Amino acid sequence: MVENSYTEVVQKGLEKLRSLGGVDRIKRFLGEIGGAESGYTWFYNREFFKKIRLKMKLLEDISDLSEIDTRITLFGQRLEMPIMSGAMSGMGDLAPKPLKLVAEAMKEIGSIAWMGAGSKDQLLEMVNTGANVVKITKPYKENEKIIEELSFAEKIGVIAVGIDIDYFYGGKLGDRLILGGVTGPKKISELSEIASTLNIPFVVKGILSESDAKKASNFADAIVVSNHGGTVLDYAAHPLEVLPEIVKEIEGTDIAILVDSGFRRGTDVLKGLALGAKGVLMGSTTLVGLAADGKNGIISLFLAINDELKRTMAICGCKDINSISKDILILA
Ligand SMILES: Cc1cc2nc3c(=O)[nH]c(=O)nc-3n(C[C@H](O)[C@H](O)[C@H](O)COP(=O)(O)O)c2cc1C
Repeated sequence: MVENSYTEVVQKGLEKLRSLGGVDRIKRFLGEIGGAESGYTWFYNREFFKKIRLKMKLLEDISDLSEIDTRITLFGQRLEMPIMSGAMSGMGDLAPKPLKLVAEAMKEIGSIAWMGAGSKDQLLEMVNTGANVVKITKPYKENEKIIEELSFAEKIGVIAVGIDIDYFYGGKLGDRLILGGVTGPKKISELSEIASTLNIPFVVKGILSESDAKKASNFADAIVVSNHGGTVLDYAAHPLEVLPEIVKEIEGTDIAILVDSGFRRGTDVLKGLALGAKGVLMGSTTLVGLAADGKNGIISLFLAINDELKRTMAICGCKDINSISKDILILA
């Protein structure tokens, strides 16, 4: 039996991270100052949600929470909820095979496990769980390395692949550059070329402007509107600030728009969906769930967040994901 209390699991996860000296990871989850340079983006990633409030629409003839349907279809797969693990990597201090546990958890709740940087063996372990897996590679300087990684992923059966373009110039924690020497900027023609070598959906992660969304729409099947959880650019916009313009810009295409960065609760997910996202990725939440109780910790947190989403949808008069619209939002 998996315990389903959000606060309890989060507290347990944060305690574990504290015992390991994971101050940065705790700050990021809580939305405290930290991340790239001055650290404002971590703070703003949580702060921004306060600017969006919700209307209640209770007279919609919903008789029971069991009527609320959170299923979506993405990359041809039917998912039980519009919430997925972030594109994860590392976390070896929390469990011997952390990414495999993420995959097992996502399989059990009927969602998608996203993988970021990591070895072929790790990816294989994820896919072998039977989970739906998406592989996101880094924008390595050598295009051959990118193509090799993504072709391998395609061959072993992931459902989509992609690249986090926001890592063109590496990431940053304070003044420390992460992977700065390994990655480099790509031209549109290079990204198109990489995408054209693959026969499964191609995802561009790290879109944070309508112009990038428009350009990516020429070769991507999905985009993740993201500021990489605040570890790339100080004073980055929150993805939901740019999402409405992005939705307008690529209207009429069948590109799936996903979001991440700072999403923690069911109301956050509802706000993202109401502004036009098809699904929400959660990185720090996956990490905290894993820290709390391995696979079961992740399952508990995601189920708790989806229960919050269902209850919030009912209060806001939305029976299913398609009936969520920006009419329920007050934007300050
Ligand atoms: C432990 C950890 C490892 C991550 N590794 C990667 C990665 O390798 N590639 C990537 O694109 N994003 C990576 N991310 C970023 C997430 O995919 C996602 O963009 C971010 O966590 C979203 O913000 P949130 O942490 O506030 O949910 C990682 C995040 C965490 C917490």
